[in-house]
Amino acid sequence: MRNVQVGIIRIFAEQKNYILKRRILIIGASGQIGTDLTTQLRKRYGNHKVIATDIREDDGTLGNEGPFEVLDAMDYKAIEDVVIRYEITDVYLLAAMLSATAEKFPMRAWNLNMNSLFNVLNLAKDKKIKKVFWPSSIAVFGPTTPKINTPQRTIMEPSTVYGISKQAGERWCEYYHEKYSVDVRSIRYPGLISYKTLPGGGTTDYAVDIYHKALKHSKYICFLKEETTLPMMYIDDAIRATLTIMEAPEEQIKVRSSYNLAGISFNPKEIAQSIKKQISNFEISYKPDFRQAIADSWPQSIDDTNAQKDWGWKNHTSLEEMTSIMIKNLR
Ligand code: SER
Repeated sequence: MRNVQVGIIRIFAEQKNYILKRRILIIGASGQIGTDLTTQLRKRYGNHKVIATDIREDDGTLGNEGPFEVLDAMDYKAIEDVVIRYEITDVYLLAAMLSATAEKFPMRAWNLNMNSLFNVLNLAKDKKIKKVFWPSSIAVFGPTTPKINTPQRTIMEPSTVYGISKQAGERWCEYYHEKYSVDVRSIRYPGLISYKTLPGGGTTDYAVDIYHKALKHSKYICFLKEETTLPMMYIDDAIRATLTIMEAPEEQIKVRSSYNLAGISFNPKEIAQSIKKQISNFEISYKPDFRQAIADSWPQSIDDTNAQKDWGWKNHTSLEEMTSIMIKNLR
């Protein structure tokens, strides 16, 4: 009995110590997820406890709020140096090459997406950091995956370079958790939509670009066909999911590859209709390119029962709400 009590006290003390000492490193902080996530993490834990880094110099946004450093996600020594200097406990690895760009530079994409992950997983394996967040994607699924309400565990035969790298990454995350007890947590993000950053080489990026073009020119030429339904999510929901999974007690995280996460599903025609309600002369036309094949290989909707059950996930923002937010803020 006494041993149990001592054990419980020790776990509480370790947890308290970790919370007091928590220092966060974000790699790829200037990208679509990083921009919002850095700000939210700083609001929660304090500006000086969240170190933003990116391969590009800061444009004055993140560096004004708190520490910012230029950092190459491929450079293990440089990451280790930042980890030691700032006494980092948690790393969010957001640097990656997205689906459309990765098809143009397969080897570069593979090297970046895999080596950056190994750098961070190995730091955790060597106990230099405590916790890792690494984003996966709906791109882990492929043409043979059931497309509607895609289950957490199903056929995965990704046909894109990006998808192959994310699927391999998921396997490695689970492996490092099983073999080396690395506390790595991951989400399969759907296409993310935000007004703060411009599209960055993804296939779902049309759903960001469309708002910019609607406000500027009242028209948009879409690189996907009108009926191409894809899983999407407004950025605030994605950030909330990220914070929730990272703050959940360790034993609640039962999937150590990556969690399915559902938001909203829509196609170009439907997003155009929602824009037209606010910009009545808006017009969309369609000129599918190589990205159509990428989109065709991905699911249309996602079953996220595991995320709901394990750490209480629920999406909030609808397509109509998202369109109002995007148009209001981009104006
Ligand atoms: N949004 C990503 C892309 O289109 C998918 O994860 O590449």
